[in-house]
Amino acid sequence: MRRVSLHWGLVLLLLCPLLHGSRKEEKTLAIIKPDGVSSHYTNKIKAVILESGFAIVREKILQLDEGNATYFYSEHSGKSFFPRLITYMTSGPVCLMVLEKVNAVSDWRTLIGPTDARKAKVSHPTSIRAMCGVDLERNCVHGSDSRESAAREIAFFFGDINTGKGDRKHDEL
Ligand SMILES: *[C@@H]1O[C@H](CO)[C@@H](O)[C@H](O)[C@H]1NC(C)=O
Repeated sequence: MRRVSLHWGLVLLLLCPLLHGSRKEEKTLAIIKPDGVSSHYTNKIKAVILESGFAIVREKILQLDEGNATYFYSEHSGKSFFPRLITYMTSGPVCLMVLEKVNAVSDWRTLIGPTDARKAKVSHPTSIRAMCGVDLERNCVHGSDSRESAAREIAFFFGDINTGKGDRKHDEL
């Protein structure tokens, strides 16, 4: 009798994480922006990523052109800072990474810190933007702001990584 209840206890224990939605593995897009790459922060940032429990499941270095950057940031296209943002994002290669972990979207946002790197240096001194960002615009790293954005941004740069379709296309280049 005791063995039976122990058995069901174990089954429940194993099912628990599966039934609890928030424990699901999630993917997010991380970008090390041109100044982060050119100032040699890539390896330091990757070390922080791995130490924080993320897996880097995809990675590539890419030089964005004006068309890519304009499309990627299209939601900001009317804003006054938009031309500067496009100039910045196309000023050198970026490092794109798909990060995976439980709660990846919000945990990566927490790890990078506030959007304005100047504020990050004061309020979140251990954040990535405090380490390598300069100000509100040159803030060194990007993180998707929601699961929906993450899916869209990952598909834009890596294709459909679940079926490998986008990748196959890319490999042929
Ligand atoms: C960026 O634009 C170029 C054409 O200018 C295109 O060949 C390339 O596939 C684009 N990259 C992405 C990620 O959309």
